[in-house]
Amino acid sequence: MPSGLIDPAPVSLGPDLEVGRLGFGCWRLVGGSPSEYHEVLEAALGHGMNLVDTADVYGLDWGGTAFGQAESNLGQVLAAAPGLRDRMVLATKGGITPPTPYNASAAAITAACEASLGRLGVDTVDLYQIHRPDLFVHPAELAEALTGLRDQGKIREVGVSNFTPAQHEALAAHLPFPLVATQPEYSAAALGALRDGTLDLCMRDGVVPLAWSPLAGGRLATGTDVRPELIATLDRLAERHGTSRTTLAVAFVLAHPSRPVAILGTQKPERLAEAAAAAHVPLEREDVYAVIEASEGVPLP
Ligand SMILES: NC(=O)c1ccc[n+]([C@@H]2O[C@H](COP(=O)([O-])OP(=O)(O)OC[C@H]3O[C@@H](n4cnc5c(N)ncnc54)[C@H](OP(=O)(O)O)[C@@H]3O)[C@@H](O)[C@H]2O)c1
Repeated sequence: MPSGLIDPAPVSLGPDLEVGRLGFGCWRLVGGSPSEYHEVLEAALGHGMNLVDTADVYGLDWGGTAFGQAESNLGQVLAAAPGLRDRMVLATKGGITPPTPYNASAAAITAACEASLGRLGVDTVDLYQIHRPDLFVHPAELAEALTGLRDQGKIREVGVSNFTPAQHEALAAHLPFPLVATQPEYSAAALGALRDGTLDLCMRDGVVPLAWSPLAGGRLATGTDVRPELIATLDRLAERHGTSRTTLAVAFVLAHPSRPVAILGTQKPERLAEAAAAAHVPLEREDVYAVIEASEGVPLP
């Protein structure tokens, strides 16, 4: 029986896929060695963080040098340790095409997905996500391309990222199958999804929110460029619950009733271990409302 607001049980991503409440993000899976990548992936899977989230564009920053590099790095690990693939729910994304900047036309998304499969060295990705909305593609065209990729067995499920609820609904209306996930930024320092309808849509339609940057890209860990009141509140609650500030911040993400999966960005096994405790922090309403008030700097009415 869960204690407090967080239910630590896994989440269904469509009818056949189950993921833990914490996922592993590959944005920063660059600049290391294959053995380091392997070690951190093993650590993540060992903690039940079986959603492994990457994107074709990852590699253009964080010390990477090229579009596709993070996928290639992951593909290298999977090729060397083939058993790993079956232990993960593999998610990638396409649709960001610097410097255009976005192209989710049928031809571009089909080519992007096939290129991702090639770099990852797999026949199928479990979750294919449109990374950011291309405002100049009709959702019917995109839906047809995604349906084609799914019919060919190249992707199992489809999700979106950084879509407004209306953009999500427009695509969903043209798809012959449900969207299973949406990936918004969501953390104690980025509360938009709480009130812009994203998390409400998730609860209405049974869509899983995949929260990106749950530590605000590390700012909630370092305390830089965040309201000092927010850091003080996280520290106070962490002390009360006998945990660390970062674990408490991840727990805040997990506490929403839409049951988000927090996609962790650290590439350090010991920090994954620290975050793993988040699903068991017994946060209560007074805790999460205190975080919201400290984040926004005004009392709730
Ligand atoms: N859909 C989108 O548009 C989008 C955008 C951004 C991210 N994402 C996804 O979300 C994932 C996570 O994003 P993120 O990397 O910004 O996540 P995050 O977990 O908010 O931040 C991770 C960063 O915080 C640093 N950090 C510093 N101190 C830490 C501590 N004590 N514990 C943990 N981390 C600490 C990590 O560095 P170390 O590695 O040194 O620990 C890392 O650089 C990405 O990998 C990607 O899959 C998606």
